Amino acid sequence: MKKLVVIGSSNMDLVVSTEHFPLPGQTVLGNKFMTNFGGKGANQAVAASLLGSDVTFICKVGNDDYGRAMIEKFRKDGIDTRHVSTTDQAATGIAIITVDAKGENTIVVASGANSMLTSEDIINAESAISAADVLLMQLETPVEPLRTAARMAHEMGKYVILNPAPAPKKPLLSDLLKHIDLIIPNETEATSITGVEISDLQSAELAMEALKGMGVKDAMITLGEKGVLAYEDGKAKLFPTCKVQAIDTTAAGDTFCGALSVAICQGKGKKEAIAFANKAAAYTVQHEGAQCAMPHLNDL
Ligand code: RIB
Repeated sequence: MKKLVVIGSSNMDLVVSTEHFPLPGQTVLGNKFMTNFGGKGANQAVAASLLGSDVTFICKVGNDDYGRAMIEKFRKDGIDTRHVSTTDQAATGIAIITVDAKGENTIVVASGANSMLTSEDIINAESAISAADVLLMQLETPVEPLRTAARMAHEMGKYVILNPAPAPKKPLLSDLLKHIDLIIPNETEATSITGVEISDLQSAELAMEALKGMGVKDAMITLGEKGVLAYEDGKAKLFPTCKVQAIDTTAAGDTFCGALSVAICQGKGKKEAIAFANKAAAYTVQHEGAQCAMPHLNDL
């Protein structure tokens, strides 16, 4: 079986559902409170593992109850945790999430231990990266270790995927982008990286071109319920999503990236890979939470 390495964050999600989001300075009474396993990196690693991939996850958690619970959960989900390290210097990352009646969310992350991931952690995991076929990363950890990993994996001939979430505040350096085989931003992230405002398919296509001009080999932009814009035979094409009733969109993008990586590991063509990832993401939005909302292979 082909192997996937995921590098990224692991957060405990503290989630309140509410009819509508509060305005600045306003208090609203919410409904249910949930504590869920989340974090973009962990979500993508779990999504891929539940869908049948051989996954190694590289991340950093605090030496606390949340951190220990996460490691146990990763193992239960079949993930190789040899490179999940623990620090005494910071608490495990948390995310404060609100989900409204339409299933939309707002997320504020306190990175904690995630912000302490270093290039040394990546160098320590060199053998895992060398044994892998595909490397998947996001931007919820410091960029320096990601750059180290991308360069290392690229030099080893691995396929490197970057989901640039959350949207970067500083420009992404060509030093990172030139090692990326596939970048998967959503509209906001694509605009933040390229400066191209996305209002329709034409502008999304311009943003894809701009991404390629920045050094990445291939790009796809996820456009929410409209679908995914990707190149097929050199032309940008919209791949529609499955139409479903969303109750919570948290981690839909993570499920998409995890599932797409599984399909790439399996050597599926682009059309088939996107259809598989769309189906997995559609399952997630119909369930509450992040990792607890993700499908196993037989759910699809
Ligand atoms: O993408 C969803 C995730 O973003 C949540 O699980 C939260 O932890 C934040 O990282």
